[in-house]
This record gives sequence, C-alpha cells and structure tokens, in this order.
Amino acid sequence: MSRILVTGANGQIGSELVEVLRERHGPSQVVRLDLKPPPAPNGRPPDAPFEVADVRDRDALADVLTRHKVDTVYHLASLLSATGEQHPDRTWEVNLGGLKNVLDLAQTHDLQVFWPSSIAVFGPSTPKIDTPQDTVLDPATMYGVTKRSGELLCQYYHRRYGLDVRSLRYPGLVSYKTAPGGGTTDYAVDMFTAAAEGRDYTCFLAPDARLPMMYMPDAIQATLDLMDAHSDALSVRDSYNVAAFSFAPQDLAAALQRRRPGFSCTYEPDRRQQIADTWPASVNDEAARADWGWTPDYDLDAMTDDMLAHLGAGERVRGGEGEWESGGMGERESGNVGT
Ligand code: NAD
Ligand code: SER
Repeated sequence: MSRILVTGANGQIGSELVEVLRERHGPSQVVRLDLKPPPAPNGRPPDAPFEVADVRDRDALADVLTRHKVDTVYHLASLLSATGEQHPDRTWEVNLGGLKNVLDLAQTHDLQVFWPSSIAVFGPSTPKIDTPQDTVLDPATMYGVTKRSGELLCQYYHRRYGLDVRSLRYPGLVSYKTAPGGGTTDYAVDMFTAAAEGRDYTCFLAPDARLPMMYMPDAIQATLDLMDAHSDALSVRDSYNVAAFSFAPQDLAAALQRRRPGFSCTYEPDRRQQIADTWPASVNDEAARADWGWTPDYDLDAMTDDMLAHLGAGERVRGGEGEWESGGMGERESGNVGT
C-alpha cells in the first residue's frame, strides 16, 4: 500500500490531487504538506494527516518522510510565473532548492517522485505553434528558468542515480475548486468566476493571447497515468509536453457569452502579458500519447459547460495561496509570498 506525500497540498492542483489520491489509496495514506493548514471547513480542524513545513527545510522534510513511511512524493510546492517575477530570489530558493531537497531525500528514502514543469520552459525563440517536445528552451522568466533547470535536475538524477522521477509540462490549468495562485493563466478562472456570478470581467491579458490550456480533471488524469506507466515505456525523463486545447481570452469570453448573454469582458493587459508573449500558442504532445497513452477528455466547450455547472451550483472557487500584487512586477522585492 502506497504512502504518499503531496507538497503544496493547499494549492490549485494539490487540493484536487489529494482528493483523488485519497479515493484511490485511502484517506490515511495521503499526507498533505504546505506552509500553513488549509482553511478549516465550517471551523472544523483540517483532516489529518497534514504537516506544516517549508520545502526549503530538508531536515523537516526528512522527518515527515520518515514518520509517515512515505514511498511516493508529488512535489507541487512552488511559486508561479507572475509572483516569480515579483520575487525572483524566493522563486529560485523554493522551486529549485525545494526540488533538490526532494530529489536528494528520494535517493536516501527510495522514493518515486512526480514533479510538475510548465509551458514556461519555452521562450521567445521557441517555435510557437505545435511546439515540439525537444526544441529551443530559452525561458524568459525566473519561474521558467527554475522549471527548465528542474527538468534537467530530474533527468540528471534519473540517469546518474536511477531515481524514478517523472514530470509533465502542464499548460495553464482551469478549475473551480481552488483558485490558482499567482500565474499568468489565472485570468481564465477569474473570468469563469465573474461570468458565473453575473459580473463583467476586465482581463489582464490581451484578447488574442492564445495559450495552451487544460481542464483540471485531465491534468489530474495525466498525472496519475504518467505515474502508473511502466518505467521502461518512458522515453522522456526531463518532462513530457501534454496538451488538451488552446484558447485566447476572447475565445473564452465568446464561449461564456454564448451561455451567459449578458456577460461582458474588457481588456487591460498588464505586465503578465509580457510573460504570455514568450509562451507557445500550442504544444505537440505526441511523445506522451505514444509512450503512456495520453489523451484528454475535455475541449473548450466541454470544460465551459462543466465549469459553469459547478460554479452555478454554488461550488465557488476557494482562495489560492500565491497572490499577484498589482504594480509590483519588475522590482526585486523580498516579500513573503507563500508564507
Ligand atoms: P499554487 O500556487 O496554487 O499552490 C502552490 C502551493 O505551494 C501553495 O499552497 C503554497 O502555499 C505552497 N508553497 C509555496 N512555497 C512553499 C514552501 N516553501 N514550502 C511548502 N509549500 C509551499 O500552485 P498550483 O497551481 O497548485 O501548482 C502546483 C505545481 O504545478 C507548481 O509546481 C506549478 O509550477 C505547477 N504548474 C501549475 C500550473 C497551473 O496552471 N496551475 C501550470 C503549470 C505548472
Ligand atoms: N499556469 C502557470 C502560470 O501561469 C504556468 O505554469 O504561471
């Protein structure tokens, strides 16, 4: 029976991945870890097991792994692209320092590791359409630098030490349970929430900023499928491209207007548009499809219907952890993102 640790468990992905892992393995088998406990539903204390720890603290991580006899780690704790530009030093320390701690401990504790990368590994010189698995990787953000460096670190640990570490380059993720935290693609969840609540929306990306996106159930399925795949089937050990569909803010606004005719979206691009400008419009995921049978279930229309059904039923997006501080990008700040 697997004993699983999920770091960054309070986040947009972690909160949903934990639910699915608990259904698969049993609630007591899945240990959550984050900087602070999740919001307690109705004032009740959070379900155990939960560990408050900082992934930069290797001793604290080692203690958690030992006490809970963990054999598999989903290492999600990270700062995202927009907050990463506001806090580059912290982003380096958390994203790469945390990963290095997990990989080193994975060796000594004989762990299997999942670690997510991102479309942020691509940059201005990368082909923008149908971006290949192996291509120019020149990330323009600190977040992207940590993701590409992390990919290489994962590949190195696999080749040098035989560590079973697996990774996906997630596109921008859309979900209704937990808000995204400080990313460039967060506008999509914000737009859904506004439309579901009968509000208009002002988008911080340009109307034609087309990016690869995915609905959360597909992202969770991809993660589990990759972790279930036979090791010999995996030809990619830095990180797999995975794709579902691409859309621009104006495409999502149109999909919402077809279902909520009163909804209106205006555009005031901010510094996050400069990040989006460096990312691809679509990625090629043939390797993931060939190696472990990746295939998504949701397109834009199916996702839009499902999101609105859940948001309309009162399942509102809960707050994420990493906050975008408007006006702060560009300076090197030392604030307390994620603490
Ligand atoms: P999120 O910001 O919603 O959650 C990240 C969590 O990490 C937060 O709960 C935060 O408190 C925690 N955290 C931050 N610093 C920490 C530290 N030092 N120690 C312990 N916990 C810490 O992020 P997410 O969207 O859930 O993303 C999870 C992973 O997936 C990240 O690695 C991210 O880069 C990657 N990813 C996400 C997306 C997306 O669209 N959401 C896309 C590509 C890749
Ligand atoms: N969705 C993430 C972000 O916008 C990409 O990794 O930062």
